[in-house]
Amino acid sequence: MEKLIIAPSILAANFAELGSEIDMLNASAAEWIHVDVMDGMFVPNISFGFPVLEAVKKRASKVLDVHLMIEKPERYLEAFAKSGAQVLTVHYEACPHLHRTVQQIKDLGCLAGVAINPSTPVHVLEDIIHDIDLVLIMSVNPGFGGQKFISNAIKKTKEVAELAKSKGLGKLKIEIDGGVSLTNASELINVGANVLVAGNFVFSSPNPQETIAHLLELGN
Ligand code: DX5
Ligand code: ZN
Repeated sequence: MEKLIIAPSILAANFAELGSEIDMLNASAAEWIHVDVMDGMFVPNISFGFPVLEAVKKRASKVLDVHLMIEKPERYLEAFAKSGAQVLTVHYEACPHLHRTVQQIKDLGCLAGVAINPSTPVHVLEDIIHDIDLVLIMSVNPGFGGQKFISNAIKKTKEVAELAKSKGLGKLKIEIDGGVSLTNASELINVGANVLVAGNFVFSSPNPQETIAHLLELGN
């Protein structure tokens, strides 16, 4: 199995203290920082955009894993890459020309990810999985942090892992996003997850760095 990566979502950070929140993550066992971009169209919420990403980039020493919950993401891929994204994930449901969009991400020198919503079956990935670096399985309906984990995501993780194996894609990153905690993380890892996003579970805990370390230990 690929080494486990913990990607805390700064959607759950204290935005008034974003600099020190990033410093805290820099000093933690998290390898990636998950950045949730929402446009109020693809999802019923608006988070933040380029100025915030650029500011985070200046401060962060970790990989910026940018999750685009926006319609027609191809309009902004270059701008996100220039603002500091190293992993760019678009939604299957938001991209009619997904293959082209994925190629654009790769041409920008970023890792390319495709996300699927809870109601989207894994088999839609069959003809794109060879071309991507990462599959993101939504384990909540995108738009908000702090929601309850939808346990069907465990079955879907297993299906993605099996699909990747059947196609010889040993390096594929399988990322789970939404409601991840110590309650479900072990099971997710056991069925093939190798990147865990955690927002509220990390930032609402008394000691976020310890919480990140505990999640990471499950991968050993
Ligand atoms: C939901 C976002 C998630 C979210 C995760 O739309 O994509 O990344 O911030 O937060 P928690 O871990 O609190 O569910
Ligand atoms: Zn996300």
